[in-house]
Amino acid sequence: MTAGGWMYIGPQGIVHGTYLTLLNAGRLYLGIPDDKDLSGKVFLSSGLGGMSGAQAKAVEIAGGIGIIAEVDKSRIETRSKQGWLNRSSDDLDEIFEWVKEFRESGDTVSIGYYGNIVDAWDYVARHEIPIELSSDQTSCHDVYNGGYTPQGLSFEQGRELLRRDRAEFKNKVDESLRLQFDLIRKVTAQGTHFWDYGNSFMKAVFDAGATSIARNGKTTDDGFIFPSYVEHIMGPVCFDYGYGPFRWICLSGEHKDLIETDSIAMSCIDPTRRGQDRDNYVWIRDAEKNALVVGSQARILYADVEGRVKIALKFNKSVREGKIGPIMLGRDHHDTGGTDSPFRETANILDGSNISSDMSHQCWAGNAARGMTLCVLSNGGGVGIGKAINGGFGLVLDGSDRVDNIIRSALDWDVMSGVARRAWARNDHAVEAVIEWNKRMGKRGQITLPYIPEDDYLEELVRKKIIG
Ligand SMILES: NC(=O)c1ccc[n+]([C@@H]2O[C@H](COP(=O)([O-])OP(=O)(O)OC[C@H]3O[C@@H](n4cnc5c(N)ncnc54)[C@H](O)[C@@H]3O)[C@@H](O)[C@H]2O)c1
Repeated sequence: MTAGGWMYIGPQGIVHGTYLTLLNAGRLYLGIPDDKDLSGKVFLSSGLGGMSGAQAKAVEIAGGIGIIAEVDKSRIETRSKQGWLNRSSDDLDEIFEWVKEFRESGDTVSIGYYGNIVDAWDYVARHEIPIELSSDQTSCHDVYNGGYTPQGLSFEQGRELLRRDRAEFKNKVDESLRLQFDLIRKVTAQGTHFWDYGNSFMKAVFDAGATSIARNGKTTDDGFIFPSYVEHIMGPVCFDYGYGPFRWICLSGEHKDLIETDSIAMSCIDPTRRGQDRDNYVWIRDAEKNALVVGSQARILYADVEGRVKIALKFNKSVREGKIGPIMLGRDHHDTGGTDSPFRETANILDGSNISSDMSHQCWAGNAARGMTLCVLSNGGGVGIGKAINGGFGLVLDGSDRVDNIIRSALDWDVMSGVARRAWARNDHAVEAVIEWNKRMGKRGQITLPYIPEDDYLEELVRKKIIG
């Protein structure tokens, strides 16, 4: 149940989001052109669990070389059986021999390292192995309750110590996090790019006593020294433009309907418009091959508002013509609009509104007023209860003209409320998206733009009016 849409879509959402994060990290940090993938580039991270396991599949779809450390053998086995890991080993010499081969061939590979991420970082630092991209997805949001296994202990030993001596377990976690941070700092100084993956890794390192991970070295008030994936990658590249986790489910339960909707969606994407559109095109083109459907006949697509409206109208037309059964539209809460989360989606938003939850409430109320089938305002999701408010929706496409009208007004509201806020926060790409939307809408709707005065002008005004 994401964003109150009551639509189960299995692991697709997280795989698609991780695929986009990896590709765009490559573009942002390594200057990879829009029409290229991560071929020959190495991504080092940890975690093959519920969400983190997506890294294994996503790096392969993005064309790169992935090394994902995991201390729990059963999780390596699950991901291997699923086909998300191509190979695995507990021997770092062997793993980095494979990496060399795949760098030379340019082919993609997803490797599971059965061991502690700290040992992987230590190996990389000692052998000065170039790693282009890196992150961490251990469960640092719950670091002292077993979410993070400290270096020097196997998964089973960690669980046993946690049961026997909590205080000692905590000491070991803190020690391990501090060491991991030192190693990451060493390796990033040699050119590796590291980002926080929304798992509170940087906060956990800070709480473990390594306060130098905070920008001001004392408190977390001014943020951290490494970028976080929403603020630096998904925010500017996707959410500012309105690209977000739009999704649909074929209510007939028929796989053939899903294939038909994939082909309709593909016909609505111009892969030459932006890099993001190219990524979406590739995603939908390969969706069937990637076999990510579990249960509901569902698809996720990081479309922008123009794309969402176009696709939805075409789906509704196909329902009307009897080509497919009814479709339910929705989105994840991890989107441009709908979610207020000072710990992730709207963290450090530049207009200073990060602790308000106006956007999710407005989004939800506006969606209800515009006739969405299901509107939900919920607390929590992703970062946890008390840390986010989400205004979500579901819309059933029954082929009617009434639904055409709802699509035309409600989807714009749902997406552009988020883009508007990001524009008011003066994010360049969001301002660009609002200008484009205003032109397209004409009299049907206008979003106000922030007017940014020159610093000198403000100073002059203050001097004249106040100082005299
Ligand atoms: N980036 C995102 O989009 C996103 C989305 C949801 C959740 N998250 C966050 O990511 C984290 C992981 O989520 P999950 O659902 O995969 O959790 P999970 O607990 O299922 O998986 C984490 C994995 O990390 C492994 N691990 C722990 N310590 C380790 C170590 N030192 N070395 C190697 N492996 C280690 C665990 O054995 C476990 O399998 C959570 O904190 C979660 O809140 C991120």
